[in-house]
Amino acid sequence: MNTVLHLSDPHFGTEQPAVQRALLDFAARQAPEVVLLSGDITQRARRSQFAAARQFMAALPAPVVAVPGNHDIPLFNLAARLLNPYGNYRRALGENLAPTFESASLLVLGVNSSRPARHVDGEVSAEQVAQVAARLRRADAGQLRIVMQHHPVRAQEPSDLDNLLIGRDVAVPAWVDAGMDLLVAGHIHLPYVQPLAGSGQRQAWTAQAGTALSRRVRGAVPNSVNLIRYDAAGNAAKTACRHRRCCVERWDYSEQDGAFTVVAQHDLAFTDTAG
Ligand SMILES: [Fe+2]
Repeated sequence: MNTVLHLSDPHFGTEQPAVQRALLDFAARQAPEVVLLSGDITQRARRSQFAAARQFMAALPAPVVAVPGNHDIPLFNLAARLLNPYGNYRRALGENLAPTFESASLLVLGVNSSRPARHVDGEVSAEQVAQVAARLRRADAGQLRIVMQHHPVRAQEPSDLDNLLIGRDVAVPAWVDAGMDLLVAGHIHLPYVQPLAGSGQRQAWTAQAGTALSRRVRGAVPNSVNLIRYDAAGNAAKTACRHRRCCVERWDYSEQDGAFTVVAQHDLAFTDTAG
């Protein structure tokens, strides 16, 4: 099985050093092929916060694919917010706000759902929906296809309905129909896995990660990350997507152990090939 480590919402500036040490230990032991970082990398988009984030990312044992969250745009510096909202992000983490990662067995498509004009909410445009769907349709049959963005598309708590991605009613069925298997996101610091329906028979999933490092945890929900295990590409049959398997494990930080420990495991069923 291959592994992908999904982290979200570290909010550098509010990171906890002990949790960061434990997460680097955990990542070194798991040796994922790639680390996905689904936004709110910093608390206030300050240079020093991005520098700390960059240092953390460099210490991870795999390439990092990152997208911005709403906190990665300056809130109080109105000039920067208007004129160069992603300036500090790009200076530290690179120009591309929607990076991709590809191997023989995996395709990851990053989507920038943050919007400088919105303080909290996220949105995808018709153009973003179409671009992602087109790329998904070109994926190899043996690839696990993951879309990553900051904002959630499904809520578990009624209070989170207002936090859902604007444009999800168009994006989710379009991407599921186009072959997306898993959509990973963050934003609300609450980990869960839910099914996603397309317009036909095909089913995909969404996995939310909690905050990886921040002291801004949600109630009694501790810091957490997701470990995605999947069957390496097309071993069974390149043309039969139903042979792909994927499991999302939730690992919570335990203060008592000073380490991340596995607390939940979701075996994801894929019902069909891309339509
Ligand atoms: Fe957020």
